[in-house]
Amino acid sequence: MMSSEKRTAADTPQHIPVMLDEVLQALRPQDGGVYVDGTFGAGGYTRAILESADCTVCGIDRDPEAFARAKALQRDFPNRFIPLHGCFGDVEQLLEGAGVAGIDGFVLDIGVSSLQLATAGRGFSFQQDGPLDMRMSLDGLSAADVVNDASEAELADIIYTYGEERAARRIAKEIAAARAKEPVTTTKQLADLVHRVLPMHGGMKTDTATKTFQALRIHVNDELGELERAMQAAENILKPEGRLVIVTFHSLEDWRVKNFLREKSGHVSGTSRHLPPAAAETPPVIFRLENKNGVAPSAAEVARNPRARSARLRAGIRTPYRKTAKGGAA
Ligand SMILES: C[S@@+](CC[C@H](N)C(=O)[O-])C[C@H]1O[C@@H](n2cnc3c(N)ncnc32)[C@H](O)[C@@H]1O
Repeated sequence: MMSSEKRTAADTPQHIPVMLDEVLQALRPQDGGVYVDGTFGAGGYTRAILESADCTVCGIDRDPEAFARAKALQRDFPNRFIPLHGCFGDVEQLLEGAGVAGIDGFVLDIGVSSLQLATAGRGFSFQQDGPLDMRMSLDGLSAADVVNDASEAELADIIYTYGEERAARRIAKEIAAARAKEPVTTTKQLADLVHRVLPMHGGMKTDTATKTFQALRIHVNDELGELERAMQAAENILKPEGRLVIVTFHSLEDWRVKNFLREKSGHVSGTSRHLPPAAAETPPVIFRLENKNGVAPSAAEVARNPRARSARLRAGIRTPYRKTAKGGAA
């Protein structure tokens, strides 16, 4: 196992930014603009935004290890890059702390970076053995805490809800039986338990432990809660014509982004065309949709970078609508 400290530049895995061209096209960085990259990661989006316009970028990441590359950006773009350590769900407070009011664009590239995945000590991957951790922020409850302390029913719930794993109950039962003998503390132990329920056989392209690992990662990092908080905050921090751009990697996230943008763009869900118009209250239009169905990566990108295969980009443009203190529109 190689800790992040022991890596050299030569063996540091590269994170290839996903849908970078499409992100820049949707974000449209302008000279003088202020942008927030809520998932700084390896800094791929941040660098590209800084290169494409004479603008400022605030790069947020909850993983303190992500900012190892921040120095090079500060050197290459003096006074134009502001690293902010924290969660993108707290973007309003982070910007306030940095003295930034009103931004022109907010981009999110949800999930883990290739660097996090490849560092066995972070415990995100079942490809290599490591401690069952999965905490992006390096604090709070780890995946091992959840696997060993949650009730069997809770575990089944987590694996079913966040992994969309149909064998969730059987996997939770297997885990509960195993941990009664000894705690489950490594990624290999967990993967082996899942494989007992869902054996791998030749020709399988995806490891049967994938969904269980995804579920625990989402739960441990409250990834869906973070996404909801960030989208709500976007409404407050974006200036009129400011752009919200989100790249997601699975349907649980994409569904939330799609629904948020549909609702905030004035779409009334669940209304019937048989009802009189007055019965449906028209919600305010807070975002205009950039692209109704979202954008998928090109075949060429997927061939170049298989990690991009499940990506989907959605974007919205903030309208001038503002709620007044009394709750009306201004
Ligand atoms: C897929 S990587 C981003 C890669 C980046 N776009 C690039 O081009 O290098 C996602 C990053 O977002 C961070 N992250 C995930 N959820 C977060 C959250 N709620 N708040 C802050 N950072 C988060 C992770 O720690 C990780 O470094």
